[in-house]
Amino acid sequence: MEMNKMICSQTATIRDAMLCIDGNTKGTAFITDEEGKLVGVVTDGDIRRALMEGYGLNNSVKTCMNKEFVYALVSDNIKDITEKFNLAVKIIPIVDEEMHPLDFVEYNENIHIPLAQPQLCGNEYKYLMDAFFSTWISSTGKYVTQFEEKFSKYCGVQYGIATSNGTTALHLALAALGIGAGDEVIVPDITFAATINAVLYTGATPVIVDIEKDSWCINPDKIEKAITLNTKVIIPVHIYGQPCDMGRICDIARNHNLYIVEDCAEAHGAEWKHKKVGSFGIISCFSFFGNKVITTGEGGMCVTNNRELNDRMLVLRDHGMSRERKYYHEVVGFNYRMTNMQAAIGVAQLENIDEILEWRQSLEEKYRSIFSKILELQMQKNDFKDRKKIAWLVSVLVDPNKRDAVLQNLKENNIDARPFFIPLSEMEIYKKYAQDCTVSRQISRMGLNLPTTCEIDDKKIERMAQVVESIL
Ligand SMILES: Cc1ncc(COP(=O)(O)O)c(C=O)c1O
Repeated sequence: MEMNKMICSQTATIRDAMLCIDGNTKGTAFITDEEGKLVGVVTDGDIRRALMEGYGLNNSVKTCMNKEFVYALVSDNIKDITEKFNLAVKIIPIVDEEMHPLDFVEYNENIHIPLAQPQLCGNEYKYLMDAFFSTWISSTGKYVTQFEEKFSKYCGVQYGIATSNGTTALHLALAALGIGAGDEVIVPDITFAATINAVLYTGATPVIVDIEKDSWCINPDKIEKAITLNTKVIIPVHIYGQPCDMGRICDIARNHNLYIVEDCAEAHGAEWKHKKVGSFGIISCFSFFGNKVITTGEGGMCVTNNRELNDRMLVLRDHGMSRERKYYHEVVGFNYRMTNMQAAIGVAQLENIDEILEWRQSLEEKYRSIFSKILELQMQKNDFKDRKKIAWLVSVLVDPNKRDAVLQNLKENNIDARPFFIPLSEMEIYKKYAQDCTVSRQISRMGLNLPTTCEIDDKKIERMAQVVESIL
């Protein structure tokens, strides 16, 4: 829509304003003064009321325009703008600092609701441009070191090794621990495939075990049963923001002399007994993919308290090159480095991680309260003793016979949602590594993840509740 079709001069008559509204079909005209500044908004309703009050078509539009109109500044963020919509305000003009109208946003009941969206409202652009103009756009540069130092500190861990993504972080961790052919690594049946793929890259044998019914995380009893003389590592995955039972898992690892490599890709900031996830493993791995709690676009990190492992990961991450002798390769390594530009975004994201976790938390609470009327729906459990979950993607369980219909109905209503991960044990390429996984198969068929972005308000949750409820 061309903006000039929305604009009508304050010298115009009511008839002119009606012609303007007729031409733009938006039911609204923006009224400007002789300097082109926005001084009022008139809707077809305002005109109707003026005519009923006895004004004529040749009266000035000023007689019926709204001078106390709602507008937004071009620098406002979309969340603040959408909060200005209400029953009476369906179109909001966007103006510059001097009130010149530049554009407008329109309320759309059926507006697309994405599943996830990075929130890049802090210093992301500034630091990214700084990295860009410094010309340090590859993996050398101040932001990589800063991000490693600050993120590892956030987790309560000494060293951070930034990587190109979360999958390479997992592989790097296992490679640094010397895991390879003949070793067994225990993984949960419900996780993203990257967890098991990283094990397979090393040549080790993954052992897939079942999950807990209530937390959906790896079941410590099943871990114990799966341990053999070849077991070397347990990879607990804090799935959908829920921390695993780290007390039991640490005990098991200690008793059997096993390494823990935490997969924290979906749980930045979650805690077990007031200690952050990422601080329990000999090495712990994070992802900063665009849908994660904080993002670097693509990106990952290993964190560890072990200096020797830190040094080994630095070498392996950089083609196995000696840190003392340039171009002398000590081991067969990888190029798993993060770029300075990714890290610049990461540093800015980390500055806001507490606020990001807070809005996620309050959004989940809104879902809990509005969805509580849907008796056939179960929200992810959040009251485990010792576990402080974070809200990554809002996760719910429904009747397994209706789950796919719910997803389809959400899709038809322009709402992104996704089914839980398919259990590894149900996929042809992985099923030979699986033990009995009855619970994960049940849960996977019931679960779906719902939109979790900062733009979701009560109205949108009500809309989603209606769509879900109409199927259940
Ligand atoms: C549990 C889990 N592990 C590992 C990964 C891999 O991370 P990335 O996509 O950054 O490689 C993901 C993410 O997508 C994940 O959800």
